[in-house]
Amino acid sequence: MKKIIITGGAGFIGSHVVRRFVKQYPEYTILNLDALTYAGNLENLKDVETSPNYQFIKADITDEQHINRIFSDFRPDGIIHLAAESHVDRSITSPLDFVKTNVVGTVNLLNAAKNIWKEDFKGKRFHHVSTDEVYGALGKTGFFTEDTRYDPHSPYSASKASSDHFVRAYADTYDLPIVITNCSNNYGPNHFPEKLIPLMIHNIIHHKPLPVYGDGNYTRDWLYVVDHAVAIDLVFHHGKNKENYNIGGFNEWKNIDLVHVLCNLMDKKLERPEGESAKLITFVKDRPGHDLRYAIDATKINKELGWKPSVTFEEGLAKTIDWYMENQEWLNHVTSGAYQKYYEEQYDLK
Ligand code: NAD
Ligand code: DAU
Repeated sequence: MKKIIITGGAGFIGSHVVRRFVKQYPEYTILNLDALTYAGNLENLKDVETSPNYQFIKADITDEQHINRIFSDFRPDGIIHLAAESHVDRSITSPLDFVKTNVVGTVNLLNAAKNIWKEDFKGKRFHHVSTDEVYGALGKTGFFTEDTRYDPHSPYSASKASSDHFVRAYADTYDLPIVITNCSNNYGPNHFPEKLIPLMIHNIIHHKPLPVYGDGNYTRDWLYVVDHAVAIDLVFHHGKNKENYNIGGFNEWKNIDLVHVLCNLMDKKLERPEGESAKLITFVKDRPGHDLRYAIDATKINKELGWKPSVTFEEGLAKTIDWYMENQEWLNHVTSGAYQKYYEEQYDLK
């Protein structure tokens, strides 16, 4: 009978992880701990919110006292920590928010876990969910392995790198049982439309310009979010103590090529003439410090835990587009109000 706290469970990836654990492990109690920032949305979890093994608590991981109280009341055996400020562009305008949540918030959780577990770490685990961006940028060739030197370039990736270092430091100093996963770009249902794929889908639906940064030749490795949730499940249960695992899609795309694929798929879906949506592509000013290329070598998780992506990019994009077309109410909710202000400040577009 395990009790698990999942932080950031109302966000994009967190909601898929919560769903996976609630459904896969009816004998566990899952506590979703989330501050419900602009990126957190309980609508993402409608299908599991009445499950008997699911609980939600609104809490900010930067609030040390509240976090300690929750940990000593609930007494978790495991933590899966996803809560974070996650958008690179926002980190460029508000770096301190990223330090607060991603660094201070993570240290609060580490302390809370250490305090309730004391020295009795049997059956306990702190799983820190991190990103491939901590490794910096690749040139045209090569892959990030688990041994690649950390070299973050954005305030977001610097804050995630710092949080990874704190997690390792707690393992080395206090023997806290930890695992870290570093994943590439996720996509799929419930992705907030400030990120490339959902932003493009949203703008295509509404005939708005499709803002491509710089020359569009930046490359990302895309993974369907449900496959990430499965990988987290495997590493949480079977990963080796104090180790890190890279997770990736073996699926590299230049942004501009990916946007063209989305335009073509959406033209078919919306029954628009071929080539219509691509006319919306607009090259805009580049992201400062923009990392050229990310690519993950996921050999370790494949060899040790037998994980590999189960969804092809074709299938994943089709499922994603279908989800956005069927959930336009969700899209309308999250793009009203504060989103409009963010969009106007971020993009000089009509
Ligand atoms: P997201 O922005 O969609 O969701 C973040 C969630 O954290 C939201 O529900 C938000 O309300 C919550 N949160 C934010 N600040 C909080 C605070 N102070 N206290 C409590 N909750 C707070 O993020 P995501 O894309 O789902 O990413 C989840 C995690 O996975 C992050 O740690 C991110 O660094 C990591 N990651 C993301 C990707 C990706 O492609 N999105 C890839 C690799 C790793
Ligand atoms: O690699 C993992 C990371 O992937 C995660 O750690 C982050 O939380 C997640 O946000 C994501 O970071 P990116 O910066 O790679 O994702 P984003 O969707 O913001 O951008 C993907 C690429 O598309 C990047 O090269 C920038 C570009 N882009 C993005 C936006 C929002 C554009 O060209 N135009 C845009 O409007």
